[in-house]
Amino acid sequence: MDLLLRDRAALVMGGSSGLGLGIATALAEAGARVCLLARDAGRLAAAAERLRQASGAGVGTLAVDLAEPEAVGAAIGDIVERIGTPDILIGNGGGPPPGVATRFDPALWQAQAAKMLLPTMTLTDAFLPAMRERRFGRIIMVSSTSVVEPIPGLVLSNALRAALANWGRTLAREVARDGVTVNTLMPGRFDTARARALTEARAKDGLSVEDVRRRDIETIPAGRFGTPEEFGAVAAFLASPRAAYVTGTLIPVDGGLLG
Ligand SMILES: NC(=O)c1ccc[n+]([C@@H]2O[C@H](COP(=O)([O-])OP(=O)(O)OC[C@H]3O[C@@H](n4cnc5c(N)ncnc54)[C@H](OP(=O)(O)O)[C@@H]3O)[C@@H](O)[C@H]2O)c1
Repeated sequence: MDLLLRDRAALVMGGSSGLGLGIATALAEAGARVCLLARDAGRLAAAAERLRQASGAGVGTLAVDLAEPEAVGAAIGDIVERIGTPDILIGNGGGPPPGVATRFDPALWQAQAAKMLLPTMTLTDAFLPAMRERRFGRIIMVSSTSVVEPIPGLVLSNALRAALANWGRTLAREVARDGVTVNTLMPGRFDTARARALTEARAKDGLSVEDVRRRDIETIPAGRFGTPEEFGAVAAFLASPRAAYVTGTLIPVDGGLLG
């Protein structure tokens, strides 16, 4: 199926690795111009070069720390310079650290709320007027199954991702008549750098990383972790004009985990 994405412009936050790179790859292969945003300039450059070679698409990069609100605001002009005003915004980035609800640290909550919520909101606010005027826009957030089923030991993820997802559902209704859709993807378990780091953090008390991994896999009905390519394919469909009637949703991409 032709996804009709040729000449569309996509900003992929957290696009240099893992799920973000999976999405950027699928969009570039479908013919979209892509701008990858992340912190590490070297990793960004390497990812962009691989993408250009694989797809022949135009790929720009931008080194920005999403935890710095001024830097996100200042990036708006640079994004437009790289790819024009985006038609597609992928709200993604690093996840919050592990933590439990009974150990409350207000400064940590404030910092993580700013990092998890404000960048996607700020960039949406910047690019939404042009999307509405064109009568085409796609805002897709990379979230987690924790929105529906809280994950023990990840209280920041459980709470803040639910907040962002419900912001998105509210926005979806407000712009549904303007050709702009807003959806949240909920990954289950994917084999990425972040997932490996979380697995390593949980490997203790006689359990090896492989033991933790095996236990995780046992909980997934599909019997395996997902791949960034599989995740990217779902996002590219949602980003395409083909998915015009899908908005305000929370979509699990989880091998059946939520059931
Ligand atoms: N993988 C899974 O199984 C899974 C499951 C549920 C939810 N998720 C969530 O999905 C999102 C992506 O996860 P992933 O597994 O793809 O992680 P990943 O492989 O670690 O990729 C994270 C991407 O975000 C960028 N990034 C991280 N912190 C950033 C910051 N402060 N500013 C700008 N860019 C930043 C990273 O590049 P730099 O480090 O260079 O900035 C990288 O490009 C995360 O929020 C994660 O919690 C993942």
